[in-house]
Amino acid sequence: MSSQKNFLVIGSNGQIGTVLTNRLGEKYGFENVVGSDLRPPENQTKFIFEECSVLDKDRLEKIISKHNITDVYLLAAYLSAKGEQNIEKAWDLNINGLLHILNFAKDKKIQKIFWPSSIAVFGPTTPKNNVEQNAITEPATIYGVSKLAGESLCNYYHNKFGIDVRSIRYPGLIGWESMPGGGTTDYAVDIFHEAIKNGEYTCFLSEDRTLPMMYMNDAIKATIGIMGAPFEKIKIRTSYNLSSLHFNPKQLEKEIKKHFEHFKIIYKPDERDQLAKGWPESINDDCARKDWGWEPNFNLSQMVSDIILNLTNRYK
Ligand code: NAD
Ligand code: SER
Repeated sequence: MSSQKNFLVIGSNGQIGTVLTNRLGEKYGFENVVGSDLRPPENQTKFIFEECSVLDKDRLEKIISKHNITDVYLLAAYLSAKGEQNIEKAWDLNINGLLHILNFAKDKKIQKIFWPSSIAVFGPTTPKNNVEQNAITEPATIYGVSKLAGESLCNYYHNKFGIDVRSIRYPGLIGWESMPGGGTTDYAVDIFHEAIKNGEYTCFLSEDRTLPMMYMNDAIKATIGIMGAPFEKIKIRTSYNLSSLHFNPKQLEKEIKKHFEHFKIIYKPDERDQLAKGWPESINDDCARKDWGWEPNFNLSQMVSDIILNLTNRYK
């Protein structure tokens, strides 16, 4: 068997996919990276693109065979806020998409899978702070319910068929290269664009709603890191807790004001604040650090400075 790796990123137009495809291309060569999504990307990409729904198993199989795909990064999903508006569609996409990919691995059509879970597997009955790997998981959103079921499916396919599936529970992700697609933590991306463009932002979370968050650069580091770790180092096949930052909108506002002293924020919490209320405030990720050497690079002020620098240049 050839040792050549070929990567398929499903959901490549999304917040994470936009960044991950480029980082994989830079690391492994763009000719070895295929992105796929429901529609072609808005801007020209260096990687190969195939239009496909993850729910179209036959077309997906043809793409995997055509490009000799070895590793699949499955990012297509309905996130928390969008999921609450589309319960059945969220379940269908988040679970059946995953089942298709797990079955391709079972049938030896691919070798390795990355599938992200979320802090949304935790719920109102989970302790709020320093949440342990095996804390209570009783999610209060269909998104969290589907992620918890997905974690169990990954673990089941690993134990029964030896599938090499790897997963992390991402916190809310913040970056400047892409826009988010319907989550509860999207405020922390929007706020930067509005601070630069208008000097004002209306926030849909309460000012004291603390959540686990992470800079996109660290999330990509973790994603490529867990996929590159030796097989035997991955001891948890449900999904790893992952942590770097936790803050509330007021704390983020204060940090942004160090760059834009006249920045104004108005707090108008909506239903997304209730979703966030059910999630933890901070996460314990000792297992990821111990098993495969996870370590974040960015603290809050480094992240804020980096985003403002890059976005300001972009808007010039
Ligand atoms: P996103 O909504 O920004 O992107 C999802 C992409 O999937 C979109 O480009 C969409 O067009 C595509 N898609 C939707 N239906 C599809 C289908 N049937 N077939 C193929 N593509 C389809 O999401 P994201 O923020 O990039 O999240 C990616 C993954 O990471 C998801 O599983 C999400 O649950 C998880 N996650 C994200 C965050 C975060 O803060 N962004 C946090 C925790 C977990
Ligand atoms: N950032 C995600 C959301 O808000 C959490 O998984 O839905």
